[in-house]
Amino acid sequence: MKVAIVGATGAVGHELMKVLENSTLDFSELQLYASPRSAGLKLPFRGQELTVQATPEGAIDADVILASAGGSISKALAPAWVAGGALVIDNSSAFRYDADVPLVVPEVNGQAALGHKGIIANPNCTTAIAVVAVAPLHRKYGVKRMIVSTYQATSGAGQKGMEELLEQTHMQLHGKEATASVFAHPIPFNVIPHIDAFQDNGYTKEEMKVAWETRKILGDENLIISCTAVRIPTLRTHSEAITLELERPATPDEARELLRHTAGVEVRDDPEAKLYPMPLTASGKYDVEVGRIRASLAFEGGLELFVAGDQLLKGAALNAVQIAEYLQAQGALKPRAGAV
Ligand code: A2P
Repeated sequence: MKVAIVGATGAVGHELMKVLENSTLDFSELQLYASPRSAGLKLPFRGQELTVQATPEGAIDADVILASAGGSISKALAPAWVAGGALVIDNSSAFRYDADVPLVVPEVNGQAALGHKGIIANPNCTTAIAVVAVAPLHRKYGVKRMIVSTYQATSGAGQKGMEELLEQTHMQLHGKEATASVFAHPIPFNVIPHIDAFQDNGYTKEEMKVAWETRKILGDENLIISCTAVRIPTLRTHSEAITLELERPATPDEARELLRHTAGVEVRDDPEAKLYPMPLTASGKYDVEVGRIRASLAFEGGLELFVAGDQLLKGAALNAVQIAEYLQAQGALKPRAGAV
């Protein structure tokens, strides 16, 4: 089994290599691709030095391609990768809304991955983190309405987003004026309620992605979802305040008990002991932290929760690798017939 990463030098690519290093995925070769600028660069993997190659225009000699070089690269090249026999697990939004492309969070709808036709989409990071916590509550209590406010780290804009936060913070602390380039405004000591493009309805595309993708993953087109997405000056890990209106009432204790037995979730909920989800504790963790679980004052029988999940891990690299692991465990990941 040959695995390739396209976008290996980026923020998600870096995490993909770290997650693969410790993964149970059985593969014999890892190939690294990025832009021609990075060709020849050597990156360490399992005690070896792997050489980054320029991403070719056509097929790649790999069975699984983990793509995280952005939507335009995926859109342009994934059809050739699929034609070459590879399974593409794509981190971009290029194919997420195609009816024949499964959008998968393995703990929630892993089975959907089995029906792929060559491409499986990894959800938007904010959505992936939220659905891990919301899916079990939806299954048991029926979510009618979900209101989300996000606190999103600069890692959501890739390596250059994190660099902009560090560089501009340094500049501002030294009395220099910072000009924004990745973000719409200077990000240090600021919060920016603007992620991705504004839509005709006044929401941003990031906010609409949460609605579109959550519905697709949970398989419930009737779910009413409203999101406000905000960029904050942290390096990694997205946090989200989530309000749920439920069909059948749930108490906070019932929700905590259910979430304690949910794969991918760590219940971190002891306000007296100052224990709640935070980027500080959730960064680098595979599980999504869930806490501040309380009865909603907005919806009778509903719930309020706060979640924090590492955007680069569950929101991207980890989820992609978990999809491949899931398929292999199901016997649905095989080397291409006649592959060299
Ligand atoms: P490179 O480092 O050579 O520019 P991030 O999301 O952190 O910004 O990372 C984006 C990733 O996509 C990087 O690995 C980057 O490689 C890669 N990339 C950017 N442009 C291209 C391209 N034209 N072809 C292949 N990979 C690309």
